[in-house]
Amino acid sequence: MSAAFEIQSPLPGAAFGATVRLARPLSQEIPDGLAAVLAKANGLLLIQGLTEIADRPQLLVDISLKFGPEVEDYRHTLSRASSVHTTAPEIFLVSNMAPVNRAPPRRPDPPVTADGRLPVQYPHRKGWHTDQSYRRPPPDISLFYAVTPVARNRGQTLFADGTAAYAALPAHLKAKVDGLQGLHCQPGTARSREGALAGRTDIEQASTARSQPQPVVRTHPVTGKPALYLCEWGQMDWVDGPFVGMEPGPRGEGAALLDELMAHYTRPEFVYVHEWTVGDLIVWDNRCLVHAATWYDGDTEQRMMWRTTVRGNPGAIYEGEARSWMPREQVPA
Ligand SMILES: [Fe+2]
Repeated sequence: MSAAFEIQSPLPGAAFGATVRLARPLSQEIPDGLAAVLAKANGLLLIQGLTEIADRPQLLVDISLKFGPEVEDYRHTLSRASSVHTTAPEIFLVSNMAPVNRAPPRRPDPPVTADGRLPVQYPHRKGWHTDQSYRRPPPDISLFYAVTPVARNRGQTLFADGTAAYAALPAHLKAKVDGLQGLHCQPGTARSREGALAGRTDIEQASTARSQPQPVVRTHPVTGKPALYLCEWGQMDWVDGPFVGMEPGPRGEGAALLDELMAHYTRPEFVYVHEWTVGDLIVWDNRCLVHAATWYDGDTEQRMMWRTTVRGNPGAIYEGEARSWMPREQVPA
C-alpha cells in the first residue's frame, strides 16, 4: 500500500501479476515505485481507467520512463512509418485500421478447446513470443494501452509466467536448457517455421536483421530469478535453429525440444488472459514472460492499441554490446 497507489495481487484468475489502482490521474502524478511492484509481481501489471492517455499520448511515454532509462523512438529503429504515432514517435500502433492495416492473428483450429475454453496452450495456441527477441540486447519491458479494444471474448492478450514455468520444469528439461541458446528471428520471414516447412529459400538477412542467439534461461537482472526466454513458430529461426548446437530445422531434434518446452511454458496454470476495456494499460516484462494475441474479426471490428518499449537493463551478459539492429553508421561512438 502506498499513498500514490494500491496493489492487488495476483491478477484475477491467475497465479501472478498485480492490479494497480492509482490514487490520482496520471496528468497530476505519475508515481515512483511501479517498477518495484512489477518485479515483485513476476513481471505483469494492470492499471485501468487511464482514458486520459488517449488524448495525451505523451503520458504513455512519461509512465514508460518509470520502468527504465530509455523508451524506444520508433523513427530510428527501422519500424514502418505507418505504425508510428504521428506526435509521439515512442508509440507503436498495433491496429487493423488504416494506415497500419495489421491483420488480426489467425483463429486457432479448432477455435475452442474440447471443454469449450479459449485455447491458451501451445501448439493449439500459436503466436507466443517475447517482444523483439530477434534483437541484441533485447528490450526489457513493454507497455500496451487500449485506445479502442474489440468486444470481449476476442482480441485478448495472453501472458505466461516464465519464472514459474522454469521453476516447474522437470529435472531432465532443466538439464537440457541450462546453458542452451535459442536462435530468434524476425517474424514473417522465410526462416519462420512455416517458411522452413514450405521450403522457402529466400533466407538471406540484412545485416541489421540477422537472427540473434539468446539464452533459453535468463537470470532476471532485478530479481535474480531464472526464467524461460523463448518464442515459437513465428519468432525462432527454423533454418539454423531453433537452438544453437542442436539438430536444426522444423523437424529436427531442436524442434522437438522447442515444442516440449513451449507446451510446458504455456500450461494454463502459468497463463493470465486479459480481456481489454477502454483505458486499460498493461505493463509486462519481456525478460521473464511470453505473450500472445488472440483472434478478432478484422472485417467487422476495429482495434487500436498503443505500445511502447523500454530498454536499458538486459543483464550482465549483454553488457557493452553494440545494438544488433542499428546500421553501423548510426551507432553512437
Ligand atoms: Fe508482442
